[in-house]
Amino acid sequence: MGNRVFRGLKTFGYLEDQDRYISASAAPEFSFGFIGCGMMGQEHMRNALLAGRASIGGIFDPAEKSAAHALQTACKEQMPLMPKVYQSLEEACADPATDALIIATPNFTHLEVMRVAVRYDKAIFLEKPIATTLEDAYEVCRLAANHSRVVRFGLQYRYKAIYAEAISEVFERNAVGRIHSINMLEHRFPFLDKVGQWNKFDAYTGGMLIEKCCHYFDLMNLFAGSHPQQVFAVGNQAVNFRNFTYANKKADGLDQAQVSIEYANGVIGGFSLCMFAPGAREELVLCGDEGRIQVSEQAQLGEENHNQIQLWSGDNAASRTSTPTYPPHIARAGHHGATFFEHVAFAEDLASGGNTGPSLADGFWSVALGAAAQASIKRRQAVDVAEILPQNFDSADLIQTIT
Ligand SMILES: NC(=O)c1ccc[n+]([C@@H]2O[C@H](COP(=O)([O-])OP(=O)(O)OC[C@H]3O[C@@H](n4cnc5c(N)ncnc54)[C@H](O)[C@@H]3O)[C@@H](O)[C@H]2O)c1
Repeated sequence: MGNRVFRGLKTFGYLEDQDRYISASAAPEFSFGFIGCGMMGQEHMRNALLAGRASIGGIFDPAEKSAAHALQTACKEQMPLMPKVYQSLEEACADPATDALIIATPNFTHLEVMRVAVRYDKAIFLEKPIATTLEDAYEVCRLAANHSRVVRFGLQYRYKAIYAEAISEVFERNAVGRIHSINMLEHRFPFLDKVGQWNKFDAYTGGMLIEKCCHYFDLMNLFAGSHPQQVFAVGNQAVNFRNFTYANKKADGLDQAQVSIEYANGVIGGFSLCMFAPGAREELVLCGDEGRIQVSEQAQLGEENHNQIQLWSGDNAASRTSTPTYPPHIARAGHHGATFFEHVAFAEDLASGGNTGPSLADGFWSVALGAAAQASIKRRQAVDVAEILPQNFDSADLIQTIT
């Protein structure tokens, strides 16, 4: 396959296929059916095409404008081959021409869509959070565990340049020794508009600490190497959408929170959320017995994004400050390049029949931590995670064995 930068250049449009080498594309090996064609569904379409191993076989969205916009923008990249437009979820799932279903519908629909999707012998990609309640997340995992093909969840922040580098430093280079404390922060601008404004209401999102924070809780769980045991949180709706109503319902999502976490292995964590900042900053600080890593990604509104990783090694090894980045054509495709690398990994899973993660357990525990934090805010006291686990919870149900 040629180089992605040259492959995408319109300048080479005049060349016959036999004259392309460095600008050549391989024929796609897979075809994806997209369920949900809003902001994230279209980001998946762009990235599937950019990754170069899959085509858009078909799309389904009950909102005509979402489907039409996807056809006019994201799908245009694979002209003249336009996708089928399915008229129902069943038709989308049943199409024998597609290998995988990419589900990017609102959070509250994930379980009902999954119940239909698992009836068909196709790989499944399900956006985060996997469900809006812990009970539903458990059911999604059980459906996935018994599915014949790989099921992957959309916790793609693991692929952001800053976190991918932190993962390499910690797990490949052992750069900070054993981790004892984890602090994360997301301070960002308010949530954007969505179809039906579903993201303003806890009933549809699961609550902000599940909806937004499952990404950060997934990373914290990963670095802790353990499960959250006790969680204490405070939070409220301080600024955003306080006077916003839609379909006669008042917006109720919290926009600030502080969460303290104790893991089963003694690691402690803290998380800070603010959703009324005039920009976006994410930060992760890991303190181990041999060093400290701080990674950050930030931009004020309208500015270029800036990434940084600082490694302090004391007298154990070289310390370093660097700026991990992806090439602009990849970073621009969404979530600073994370979604692209998520697609590269998904295509690899499809080719190998394996699952490079995030696993079902990762999806479940990211929701569990958010659910515990939401419960703690409501009860105004610390919550034992064991108390809120679904009845008859068995961690063996979080393992998918594809035969
Ligand atoms: N991984 C990430 O970083 C990330 C970022 C943003 C959103 N998301 C997730 O992606 C999902 C979609 O969010 P979005 O921002 O694209 O929302 P959106 O409102 O922009 O788009 C959702 C689309 O799904 C459609 N839809 C609703 N019910 C459907 C159904 N049953 N079948 C098919 N289509 C249906 C809607 O009409 C809409 O077009 C959510 O779960 C959200 O949490 C993930």
